[in-house]
Amino acid sequence: MNTAVFIILAYLLGSVSFGILVSRAFGLPDPRTVGSGNPGATNVLRSGKKLAALLTLLGDAAKGWLPVWLAQVYGLEIGVVCWIALAVFLGHLYPVFYRFKGGKGVATALGVLLAFSPLLAGLTLLSWIVIFALTRFSSLAALTAAVLAPGFAWWLLLPIQYILVVFVLSLLLIWRHRGNIRKLLDGTESGFGKKS
Ligand code: G3P
Repeated sequence: MNTAVFIILAYLLGSVSFGILVSRAFGLPDPRTVGSGNPGATNVLRSGKKLAALLTLLGDAAKGWLPVWLAQVYGLEIGVVCWIALAVFLGHLYPVFYRFKGGKGVATALGVLLAFSPLLAGLTLLSWIVIFALTRFSSLAALTAAVLAPGFAWWLLLPIQYILVVFVLSLLLIWRHRGNIRKLLDGTESGFGKKS
């Protein structure tokens, strides 16, 4: 198959929003119309349905992982693997099925990182968990993980092409969180409360 077809299929897969589909399946409001308006696991969690949030997280991460992993298994050139990684991520951010209004890319990026290197995904997830446990802000945890991920990729001596993709994913992810950054700075960001 032509490599362009793989890249287009990855973009289409990325355009599938598990936040919207899972919320519909659970009879929850469309996440684009409530809370932060983001169709991601964090905003689905605000509905109170933890299972729906978990399925959103797993679905969005799996769709990031699957095409990159398949491309590697089929022995596609590393450059093509990188375009597939970018395509699935851009599909999530700018989905053709939802008028190009998508999510912020945290779970999908984690899936891509998992396909690149389980250790990279593990370290990045660990940094997310630590910052979330300390601050209870999902967005701050994601922003911190995004800043650290390219450094982890470099430290793990991943191929330079993968390091560049991780860097681009981080930049896009931070850009998509610009509203969260504003809210974090002016103290109006919605967190998940301190554990008593
Ligand atoms: O996964 C997105 C998260 O980092 C922020 O989500 O809904 O608080 O904007 P939200």
